[in-house]
Amino acid sequence: MYWKSFAVLALAVPAQSMLRFSCSQLVVDRIDPLVEPGNAPSAHLHQIVGGNAFNASMDPGLDLPSTATCTTCQYTEDFSNYWTAVLYFKARNGTYKRVPTFANQFLEPANGGITVYYIPPYDNKTPVTAFRQGFRMLVGSSTRRADANDTEARQLSFRCWDKDFAGDSFGAPGMGTDTKYLPNRICPGGIRANHFFPTCWDGKNLDSPDHKSHVAYAIGGFENGGACPESHPVKIPQILYEVAWDTSGFNNREEWPEDGSQPFVFSFGDATGFGTHADYLFGWKGDALQRAMDAFCGVNCVQLKTQTTQNANRCTIKPKVNEDIDSWLTELPGGMRP
Ligand SMILES: *[C@@H]1O[C@H](CO)[C@@H](O)[C@H](O)[C@H]1NC(C)=O
Ligand SMILES: *[C@@H]1O[C@H](CO)[C@@H](O)[C@H](O)[C@H]1NC(C)=O
Ligand SMILES: *[C@@H]1O[C@H](CO)[C@@H](O)[C@H](O)[C@H]1NC(C)=O
Repeated sequence: MYWKSFAVLALAVPAQSMLRFSCSQLVVDRIDPLVEPGNAPSAHLHQIVGGNAFNASMDPGLDLPSTATCTTCQYTEDFSNYWTAVLYFKARNGTYKRVPTFANQFLEPANGGITVYYIPPYDNKTPVTAFRQGFRMLVGSSTRRADANDTEARQLSFRCWDKDFAGDSFGAPGMGTDTKYLPNRICPGGIRANHFFPTCWDGKNLDSPDHKSHVAYAIGGFENGGACPESHPVKIPQILYEVAWDTSGFNNREEWPEDGSQPFVFSFGDATGFGTHADYLFGWKGDALQRAMDAFCGVNCVQLKTQTTQNANRCTIKPKVNEDIDSWLTELPGGMRP
Protein backbone atom coordinates (compact mmCIF):
# COMPACT_ATOMS: atom_id res chain seq x y z
CA MET A 1 0.00 0.00 0.00
CA TYR A 2 1.10 3.50 -0.64
CA TRP A 3 -0.06 4.75 2.71
CA LYS A 4 0.36 2.02 5.29
CA SER A 5 0.31 4.29 8.30
CA PHE A 6 -3.39 4.92 7.89
CA ALA A 7 -4.10 1.31 8.64
CA VAL A 8 -1.61 1.37 11.51
CA LEU A 9 -2.87 4.59 13.09
CA ALA A 10 -6.53 4.12 12.50
CA LEU A 11 -6.63 0.35 13.03
CA ALA A 12 -10.10 -0.80 12.09
CA VAL A 13 -10.77 2.10 9.75
CA PRO A 14 -10.23 1.24 6.11
CA ALA A 15 -7.90 3.60 4.31
CA GLN A 16 -10.04 3.39 1.18
CA SER A 17 -12.46 6.15 2.15
CA MET A 18 -10.21 8.84 0.71
CA LEU A 19 -10.57 9.88 -2.90
CA ARG A 20 -7.17 9.59 -4.60
CA PHE A 21 -6.90 10.34 -8.28
CA SER A 22 -4.56 11.67 -10.87
CA CYS A 23 -4.92 14.95 -12.71
CA SER A 24 -2.51 14.99 -15.64
CA GLN A 25 -0.57 18.02 -16.76
CA LEU A 26 -2.88 20.68 -18.27
CA VAL A 27 -0.26 23.37 -18.93
CA VAL A 28 2.92 24.87 -17.50
CA ASP A 29 2.47 28.63 -17.61
CA ARG A 30 3.43 31.86 -15.87
CA ILE A 31 -0.04 32.84 -14.72
CA ASP A 32 -1.71 32.71 -11.31
CA PRO A 33 -5.43 33.60 -11.24
CA LEU A 34 -5.53 33.35 -7.42
CA VAL A 35 -2.59 35.46 -6.24
CA GLU A 36 -2.08 37.62 -9.35
CA PRO A 37 -5.36 37.66 -11.29
CA GLY A 38 -5.04 39.17 -14.74
CA ASN A 39 -1.24 39.13 -14.84
CA ALA A 40 0.23 37.33 -17.83
CA PRO A 41 3.05 36.91 -17.03
CA SER A 42 2.77 36.52 -13.27
CA ALA A 43 5.91 36.58 -11.14
CA HIS A 44 6.76 32.90 -11.36
CA LEU A 45 6.03 29.74 -13.30
CA HIS A 46 3.37 27.18 -12.31
CA GLN A 47 2.30 23.70 -13.34
CA ILE A 48 -1.47 23.43 -13.52
CA VAL A 49 -3.92 20.53 -13.71
CA GLY A 50 -7.72 20.19 -13.92
CA GLY A 51 -10.35 21.78 -16.14
CA ASN A 52 -9.43 23.61 -19.33
CA ALA A 53 -11.25 26.82 -18.30
CA PHE A 54 -8.02 27.77 -16.52
CA ASN A 55 -7.11 31.36 -17.35
CA ALA A 56 -5.13 34.36 -16.12
CA SER A 57 -8.31 35.77 -14.51
CA MET A 58 -10.93 33.57 -12.95
CA ASP A 59 -13.75 35.54 -11.39
CA PRO A 60 -15.48 33.82 -8.43
CA GLY A 61 -18.70 33.97 -10.48
CA LEU A 62 -17.15 31.86 -13.25
CA ASP A 63 -19.00 28.57 -13.60
CA LEU A 64 -16.11 26.21 -14.31
CA PRO A 65 -18.15 23.09 -15.18
CA SER A 66 -20.06 24.95 -17.89
CA THR A 67 -17.01 26.87 -19.18
CA ALA A 68 -14.58 23.95 -19.38
CA THR A 69 -14.91 21.32 -22.10
CA CYS A 70 -12.47 18.78 -20.65
CA THR A 71 -10.52 17.99 -17.51
CA THR A 72 -7.19 16.29 -16.90
CA CYS A 73 -8.59 14.59 -13.79
CA GLN A 74 -9.82 11.00 -13.76
CA TYR A 75 -13.16 12.15 -12.32
CA THR A 76 -14.89 13.92 -15.17
CA GLU A 77 -17.16 16.05 -12.99
CA ASP A 78 -14.09 17.73 -11.54
CA PHE A 79 -13.24 20.94 -13.42
CA SER A 80 -11.36 22.43 -10.47
CA ASN A 81 -7.88 23.80 -10.97
CA TYR A 82 -4.94 22.70 -8.88
CA TRP A 83 -1.47 24.17 -9.23
CA THR A 84 1.97 24.45 -7.69
CA ALA A 85 5.28 26.06 -8.57
CA VAL A 86 7.75 24.31 -10.86
CA LEU A 87 11.07 22.72 -9.93
CA TYR A 88 14.32 23.48 -11.78
CA PHE A 89 17.73 21.84 -11.63
CA LYS A 90 20.67 24.23 -11.41
CA ALA A 91 23.83 22.82 -12.98
CA ARG A 92 27.37 23.72 -11.89
CA ASN A 93 27.72 26.09 -14.83
CA GLY A 94 24.79 28.08 -13.43
CA THR A 95 22.17 27.17 -16.02
CA TYR A 96 18.71 25.82 -15.15
CA LYS A 97 16.71 22.91 -16.57
CA ARG A 98 13.06 22.27 -15.80
CA VAL A 99 12.38 19.07 -13.84
CA PRO A 100 9.40 17.14 -15.26
CA THR A 101 6.63 15.59 -13.18
CA PHE A 102 5.82 11.91 -13.48
CA ALA A 103 2.86 9.69 -12.64
CA ASN A 104 2.47 8.67 -9.00
CA GLN A 105 2.26 5.05 -7.85
CA PHE A 106 -0.78 3.14 -9.21
CA LEU A 107 -1.56 6.08 -11.49
CA GLU A 108 1.20 5.30 -13.96
CA PRO A 109 -0.45 6.18 -17.28
CA ALA A 110 -0.80 9.81 -16.17
CA ASN A 111 1.17 12.40 -18.03
CA GLY A 112 2.66 13.82 -14.83
CA GLY A 113 0.66 16.51 -13.08
CA ILE A 114 -0.68 16.25 -9.53
CA THR A 115 -2.17 13.45 -7.46
CA VAL A 116 -5.18 14.90 -5.66
CA TYR A 117 -6.78 13.57 -2.48
CA TYR A 118 -10.07 14.54 -0.85
CA ILE A 119 -10.03 12.94 2.58
CA PRO A 120 -13.02 12.64 4.92
CA PRO A 121 -12.55 11.98 8.66
CA TYR A 122 -11.34 8.43 9.28
CA ASP A 123 -14.34 7.40 11.32
CA ASN A 124 -16.22 7.22 7.98
CA LYS A 125 -19.15 8.92 9.75
CA THR A 126 -18.41 12.55 10.47
CA PRO A 127 -19.82 14.55 7.58
CA VAL A 128 -17.84 17.20 5.74
CA THR A 129 -19.22 20.08 3.72
CA ALA A 130 -18.00 20.23 0.13
CA PHE A 131 -16.78 23.56 -1.23
CA ARG A 132 -19.03 25.80 -3.32
CA GLN A 133 -18.63 27.63 -6.57
CA GLY A 134 -16.06 30.41 -6.28
CA PHE A 135 -14.23 28.82 -3.34
CA ARG A 136 -10.45 29.06 -3.47
CA MET A 137 -7.50 28.84 -1.11
CA LEU A 138 -3.74 28.75 -0.84
CA VAL A 139 -1.39 26.79 1.39
CA GLY A 140 2.24 27.72 1.96
CA SER A 141 4.12 30.92 1.27
CA SER A 142 6.48 31.66 -1.61
CA THR A 143 8.56 33.95 0.62
CA ARG A 144 9.27 31.42 3.38
CA ARG A 145 12.89 30.25 3.48
CA ALA A 146 13.21 28.72 6.96
CA ASP A 147 11.23 26.39 9.17
CA ALA A 148 8.53 28.31 11.01
CA ASN A 149 7.47 25.07 12.76
CA ASP A 150 3.90 26.30 12.78
CA THR A 151 0.78 24.32 11.89
CA GLU A 152 0.99 25.26 8.25
CA ALA A 153 4.68 24.43 7.93
CA ARG A 154 3.97 20.94 9.25
CA GLN A 155 1.58 20.33 6.34
CA LEU A 156 4.25 20.84 3.69
CA SER A 157 6.95 18.24 3.14
CA PHE A 158 9.08 16.22 0.75
CA ARG A 159 9.73 12.52 0.39
CA CYS A 160 13.03 11.29 -1.07
CA TRP A 161 12.07 8.19 -3.06
CA ASP A 162 14.26 5.23 -3.76
CA LYS A 163 13.57 3.35 -6.97
CA ASP A 164 9.96 2.30 -7.66
CA PHE A 165 8.36 4.47 -4.96
CA ALA A 166 10.34 2.83 -2.20
CA GLY A 167 11.23 5.00 0.74
CA ASP A 168 9.35 5.58 3.89
CA SER A 169 6.52 3.22 3.12
CA PHE A 170 5.15 3.29 6.67
CA GLY A 171 4.60 7.00 6.81
CA ALA A 172 1.78 9.25 5.71
CA PRO A 173 3.11 12.36 3.95
CA GLY A 174 5.19 14.41 6.37
CA MET A 175 5.97 11.48 8.65
CA GLY A 176 9.00 9.23 8.91
CA THR A 177 12.06 10.64 7.19
CA ASP A 178 10.11 13.18 5.10
CA THR A 179 11.66 16.63 5.34
CA LYS A 180 10.25 20.15 5.32
CA TYR A 181 13.18 21.16 3.10
CA LEU A 182 14.25 19.81 -0.28
CA PRO A 183 16.12 16.53 0.36
CA ASN A 184 19.87 17.10 0.63
CA ARG A 185 20.77 13.79 -0.98
CA ILE A 186 20.20 12.07 -4.31
CA CYS A 187 16.72 10.55 -4.53
CA PRO A 188 16.97 7.69 -7.07
CA GLY A 189 13.19 7.43 -7.50
CA GLY A 190 12.45 11.16 -7.54
CA ILE A 191 11.12 13.64 -5.01
CA ARG A 192 7.50 13.80 -3.92
CA ALA A 193 6.18 17.14 -2.63
CA ASN A 194 3.22 16.94 -0.21
CA HIS A 195 0.77 19.78 0.51
CA PHE A 196 -2.12 19.38 2.98
CA PHE A 197 -4.73 22.16 2.92
CA PRO A 198 -6.68 23.39 5.98
CA THR A 199 -9.82 21.47 6.95
CA CYS A 200 -12.05 24.06 8.63
CA TRP A 201 -13.94 26.91 6.95
CA ASP A 202 -15.54 30.07 8.33
CA GLY A 203 -18.73 29.08 6.48
CA LYS A 204 -19.07 32.49 4.82
CA ASN A 205 -16.16 33.64 2.70
CA LEU A 206 -15.18 31.97 -0.55
CA ASP A 207 -11.78 33.67 -0.37
CA SER A 208 -9.87 36.15 1.80
CA PRO A 209 -7.20 38.77 1.07
CA ASP A 210 -4.36 36.36 1.91
CA HIS A 211 -6.35 33.43 0.45
CA LYS A 212 -5.90 31.67 3.82
CA SER A 213 -7.80 33.44 6.60
CA HIS A 214 -11.19 32.01 5.61
CA VAL A 215 -9.86 28.52 6.41
CA ALA A 216 -8.01 27.02 9.39
CA TYR A 217 -6.55 23.73 10.54
CA ALA A 218 -8.46 21.52 12.96
CA ILE A 219 -7.31 21.39 16.56
CA GLY A 220 -5.44 18.17 17.19
CA GLY A 221 -5.55 16.85 13.64
CA PHE A 222 -8.38 16.48 11.19
CA GLU A 223 -8.23 12.79 10.36
CA ASN A 224 -8.71 11.62 13.90
CA GLY A 225 -11.72 13.83 14.40
CA GLY A 226 -10.04 16.96 15.75
CA ALA A 227 -12.46 19.83 16.34
CA CYS A 228 -12.61 22.93 14.20
CA PRO A 229 -11.92 26.25 15.94
CA GLU A 230 -15.03 28.35 16.76
CA SER A 231 -13.94 30.95 14.23
CA HIS A 232 -13.97 28.31 11.45
CA PRO A 233 -16.66 25.82 12.49
CA VAL A 234 -17.39 24.08 9.17
CA LYS A 235 -15.50 20.85 8.45
CA ILE A 236 -14.37 20.66 4.85
CA PRO A 237 -12.67 17.73 3.08
CA GLN A 238 -8.94 17.52 3.60
CA ILE A 239 -7.25 18.19 0.28
CA LEU A 240 -3.76 16.87 -0.32
CA TYR A 241 -1.65 17.41 -3.43
CA GLU A 242 1.24 15.10 -4.14
CA VAL A 243 3.62 16.13 -6.89
CA ALA A 244 6.11 13.55 -8.15
CA TRP A 245 9.22 15.30 -9.51
CA ASP A 246 11.27 13.19 -11.88
CA THR A 247 14.76 14.13 -10.76
CA SER A 248 16.29 10.96 -12.24
CA GLY A 249 17.93 12.91 -15.08
CA PHE A 250 19.82 15.02 -12.55
CA ASN A 251 21.51 12.49 -10.32
CA ASN A 252 25.06 12.99 -11.58
CA ARG A 253 27.04 14.05 -8.51
CA GLU A 254 29.54 15.83 -10.83
CA GLU A 255 26.78 18.32 -11.65
CA TRP A 256 25.75 18.94 -8.05
CA PRO A 257 27.10 21.96 -6.16
CA GLU A 258 30.66 21.50 -4.91
CA ASP A 259 29.73 22.76 -1.46
CA GLY A 260 27.55 19.70 -0.83
CA SER A 261 24.21 21.50 -1.07
CA GLN A 262 21.38 20.18 -3.20
CA PRO A 263 20.84 21.52 -6.75
CA PHE A 264 17.06 22.00 -7.08
CA VAL A 265 15.42 25.42 -7.10
CA PHE A 266 11.72 26.25 -7.24
CA SER A 267 10.53 28.59 -9.98
CA PHE A 268 10.07 31.37 -7.40
CA GLY A 269 13.77 31.29 -6.56
CA ASP A 270 13.66 29.01 -3.53
CA ALA A 271 16.47 26.48 -3.12
CA THR A 272 15.36 25.53 0.41
CA GLY A 273 11.89 24.08 -0.23
CA PHE A 274 10.37 25.89 2.77
CA GLY A 275 8.52 28.16 0.33
CA THR A 276 6.61 25.37 -1.38
CA HIS A 277 2.95 26.32 -1.85
CA ALA A 278 -0.17 25.10 -3.59
CA ASP A 279 -3.29 26.75 -4.98
CA TYR A 280 -6.84 25.42 -5.20
CA LEU A 281 -9.83 26.69 -7.13
CA PHE A 282 -12.98 24.61 -6.64
CA GLY A 283 -14.86 23.57 -9.77
CA TRP A 284 -16.77 20.31 -9.28
CA LYS A 285 -20.03 19.98 -11.15
CA GLY A 286 -23.24 20.23 -9.10
CA ASP A 287 -23.13 18.20 -5.90
CA ALA A 288 -20.73 15.52 -7.22
CA LEU A 289 -18.06 16.13 -4.59
CA GLN A 290 -20.63 16.27 -1.77
CA ARG A 291 -22.11 12.94 -2.91
CA ALA A 292 -18.66 11.35 -2.96
CA MET A 293 -17.83 12.67 0.51
CA ASP A 294 -21.21 11.58 1.93
CA ALA A 295 -20.62 8.10 0.54
CA PHE A 296 -17.08 7.79 2.00
CA CYS A 297 -16.55 5.96 -1.22
CA GLY A 298 -12.78 5.88 -1.64
CA VAL A 299 -10.58 5.32 -4.64
CA ASN A 300 -13.03 3.47 -6.87
CA CYS A 301 -15.90 5.84 -6.26
CA VAL A 302 -18.96 4.54 -8.09
CA GLN A 303 -20.82 7.73 -7.20
CA LEU A 304 -18.59 9.61 -9.66
CA LYS A 305 -18.15 9.53 -13.41
CA THR A 306 -14.67 8.66 -14.60
CA GLN A 307 -12.55 8.73 -17.72
CA THR A 308 -9.44 6.78 -18.61
CA THR A 309 -6.16 8.40 -17.71
CA GLN A 310 -5.17 8.20 -21.39
CA ASN A 311 -8.21 10.35 -22.18
CA ALA A 312 -7.36 12.75 -19.36
CA ASN A 313 -3.86 13.11 -20.83
CA ARG A 314 -5.39 14.51 -24.02
CA CYS A 315 -6.87 17.56 -22.28
CA THR A 316 -4.29 20.35 -22.56
CA ILE A 317 -4.22 24.09 -23.21
CA LYS A 318 -1.61 26.39 -24.71
CA PRO A 319 0.37 28.63 -22.37
CA LYS A 320 -0.80 32.25 -22.33
CA VAL A 321 2.77 33.43 -21.85
CA ASN A 322 5.08 32.66 -24.72
CA GLU A 323 8.58 32.13 -23.31
CA ASP A 324 11.24 29.47 -23.21
CA ILE A 325 10.89 27.36 -20.08
CA ASP A 326 12.54 24.14 -21.26
CA SER A 327 16.01 24.87 -22.65
CA TRP A 328 19.04 25.14 -20.40
CA LEU A 329 18.18 28.63 -19.17
CA THR A 330 20.61 31.28 -17.96
CA GLU A 331 17.92 32.54 -15.59
CA LEU A 332 14.63 31.28 -14.20
CA PRO A 333 11.46 32.49 -16.00
CA GLY A 334 10.66 35.98 -14.71
CA GLY A 335 14.25 36.41 -13.51
CA MET A 336 13.56 34.77 -10.14
CA ARG A 337 16.78 34.22 -8.18
CA PRO A 338 17.70 31.81 -5.43
C1 LIG B 1 -9.56 33.54 -21.03
O1 LIG B 1 -9.54 34.93 -20.86
C2 LIG B 1 -9.60 35.64 -22.08
C3 LIG B 1 -9.40 37.11 -21.76
O2 LIG B 1 -10.28 37.54 -20.74
C4 LIG B 1 -10.91 35.35 -22.77
O3 LIG B 1 -10.96 36.02 -24.02
C5 LIG B 1 -11.04 33.85 -23.00
O4 LIG B 1 -12.29 33.54 -23.54
C6 LIG B 1 -10.84 33.09 -21.71
N1 LIG B 1 -10.81 31.68 -21.98
C7 LIG B 1 -11.61 30.81 -21.35
C8 LIG B 1 -11.45 29.37 -21.71
O5 LIG B 1 -12.41 31.16 -20.51
C1 LIG C 1 25.63 23.67 -18.54
O1 LIG C 1 25.59 22.35 -18.00
C2 LIG C 1 24.59 21.51 -18.54
C3 LIG C 1 24.63 20.22 -17.76
O2 LIG C 1 25.86 19.59 -17.89
C4 LIG C 1 24.81 21.34 -20.03
O3 LIG C 1 23.83 20.49 -20.58
C5 LIG C 1 24.76 22.71 -20.68
O4 LIG C 1 25.02 22.59 -22.05
C6 LIG C 1 25.77 23.64 -20.05
N1 LIG C 1 25.59 24.97 -20.59
C7 LIG C 1 26.62 25.77 -20.92
C8 LIG C 1 26.28 27.10 -21.48
O5 LIG C 1 27.78 25.41 -20.78
C1 LIG D 1 8.03 22.21 16.62
O1 LIG D 1 6.87 22.46 17.41
C2 LIG D 1 6.43 21.33 18.12
C3 LIG D 1 5.07 21.66 18.75
O2 LIG D 1 5.08 22.94 19.29
C4 LIG D 1 7.49 20.92 19.14
O3 LIG D 1 7.08 19.77 19.85
C5 LIG D 1 8.78 20.59 18.37
O4 LIG D 1 9.83 20.33 19.29
C6 LIG D 1 9.20 21.76 17.48
N1 LIG D 1 10.30 21.35 16.63
C7 LIG D 1 11.34 22.14 16.37
C8 LIG D 1 12.38 21.57 15.46
O5 LIG D 1 11.47 23.25 16.85
